[in-house]
Amino acid sequence: MPEPRRSVAHAIRDAILTADPRAKAMATREVARAWGSGKLAPAFDVAMPDAPARPSRPELLPPSAMPKRGRGGSERGRIALIHALCHIEFVAIDLALDAAGRFGGERGADFVTDWLGVAADEAMHFALLARRLVTLGSAYGALPAHDGLWDAARETAHDVAARLAVVPMVLEARGLDVTPMTITRFEAAGDLRTARVLQRILDDEVRHVGLGTTHFTKVCLERGDSPPSAWQTLVARHFRGAIKPPFNDSARRSAGLSYDFMKGVA
Ligand SMILES: [Fe+2]
Ligand SMILES: [Fe+2]
Repeated sequence: MPEPRRSVAHAIRDAILTADPRAKAMATREVARAWGSGKLAPAFDVAMPDAPARPSRPELLPPSAMPKRGRGGSERGRIALIHALCHIEFVAIDLALDAAGRFGGERGADFVTDWLGVAADEAMHFALLARRLVTLGSAYGALPAHDGLWDAARETAHDVAARLAVVPMVLEARGLDVTPMTITRFEAAGDLRTARVLQRILDDEVRHVGLGTTHFTKVCLERGDSPPSAWQTLVARHFRGAIKPPFNDSARRSAGLSYDFMKGVA
């Protein structure tokens, strides 16, 4: 008799509860592959954990206690910057897994496919940046990292529209605005390898924001809400930071964040 298929929710939960960074990245890509080849049942029979498992390193500090990275061009400064980005990608793995596992039951198979695809991209981004750190004589975990990137997940765990409004459409969209300048900084320092990795990440992130906007718009239309005004309301309610220019207008437009969305916030 064939073994009953594992549920996709169990597989996602196991990846979220994997603490070791390399193991988490591998487990995530495996979940996405297994889902894509029909090896996981589309069942949401287990709740997502409130928080992901974390390795003992990096030490997590509140944002106010993070050492200043400085703007200079020193190699130490660049390593600290790659470390910070690597940590963002690490948390992004769990954010995408959580979206698929938490909201997949209500939103359906395409939603699960899209966010598991995002999770696999984030796992790749994490691995690429972790490898750059090793090449530069450091490693993920060698420096402290920002605690608080999971706050957005907690704050929006109750509503898929709030989650999409804040995580892809605010936080990941912010990456579109700042990454071109970061790429320039690495190019200026002669670190073309890191610059290439960041360009690849930027291309993927345009797609992630685009998926966020597409799914958000779908949810809003089902609820009879206008997407731009629903977005502005949800962001005001669930995001404490400021959304401020300069915006990467062309990347935002490619991701569907048109003037209709942005005119209300800046
Ligand atoms: Fe990423
Ligand atoms: Fe992303």
